[in-house]
Amino acid sequence: MIDLRSDTVTRPTPRMRDAMAQANVGDDVYGEDPTVNRLQDECATLLGVDATLFVPSGTMANQICLHVLTDPGDEVILDRSSHIFNYESGASGMISGVQLNPIDTADGRLKPADVEAAVRPKMSVYARSRVVSLENTANKAGGVVYDLDRVHRIADVVHAHDLRFHLDGARLWNASVALDVSLADLIAPFDIAWLAFSKGLGAPVGSIIAGPDDTIEAAGTVRKQLGGGMRQSGILAAAALVAMDGYRERLRRDHDNARRIAETVAELDSFELDLGRVQTNIVIFDVSDGTVEEVITRLAAHDIHVTPFGPRTVRITLHRDVDDAAVNATIDALRTEFD
Ligand SMILES: Cc1ncc(COP(=O)(O)O)c(C=O)c1O
Repeated sequence: MIDLRSDTVTRPTPRMRDAMAQANVGDDVYGEDPTVNRLQDECATLLGVDATLFVPSGTMANQICLHVLTDPGDEVILDRSSHIFNYESGASGMISGVQLNPIDTADGRLKPADVEAAVRPKMSVYARSRVVSLENTANKAGGVVYDLDRVHRIADVVHAHDLRFHLDGARLWNASVALDVSLADLIAPFDIAWLAFSKGLGAPVGSIIAGPDDTIEAAGTVRKQLGGGMRQSGILAAAALVAMDGYRERLRRDHDNARRIAETVAELDSFELDLGRVQTNIVIFDVSDGTVEEVITRLAAHDIHVTPFGPRTVRITLHRDVDDAAVNATIDALRTEFD
């Protein structure tokens, strides 16, 4: 089976399983798990922040961050395609009592002017604009990247209005590789940020929240309140440490493979694809001849599995478990079925 539905479908490698089996553990709610502590320390250094916090999922990371940054009734400005708005089961309303202000953009990325226009005047009738949230890379927009210049220009607007700046960096690893900019530089403008181990990096579970000491201390309290205090979670942190090892080379391979597949899709008359938007490990394209269901079924006949991503749209995602042979097989199947 060639599973291109998502980069979350990866299985732990033998090295990860071995590290999990051998991991030194303790009770992390007491702060006594040496492997979690090692992961958090290594990530703090890598990300150039005071402190980090290991959490079970990206969704919990987003929700902890929003809870730390807001009060009930506040508003969060974000792109309409963002994960927080689309795929978190209304959690930000439920957990933090905040209102989301989703902005329509041409390509899934906010511009400074979008943010400027979305900030509400300070009047009692309005929700208080409090947080601007970016997603880098922007998943639903096809894995497109916010470059550092745009992040800084948005940060200027954030600061001018005394707002707070949040980063959903589930795939910041991919952005860092695509831009050849360090993770630390990409995170520096934000008040709080997080990255996932369980997407393209291939770990089974976990994300890491990064920020200043006091912010991460507050995040630790919210993690516990949400039931995310994990005990011998060094078993999971051990896999995350392995997942980080050598990630840049592997993600570069995923990006190259995404481009190869995208170039094939772009050649086929049945599809429409903007190659400019293929910047990382995700390929999204529209079906102009036939239906999304037909495309999925015809590829499934080759045991290649892709995901529907809108009424006319299909998503293909590259990840750690897709090797060059699988990419060649996918290209062959696309040509056989749709040329
Ligand atoms: C951009 C983005 N943010 C957040 C999440 C949530 O992560 P998790 O599935 O670990 O809750 C995802 C999941 O795919 C994502 O793509």
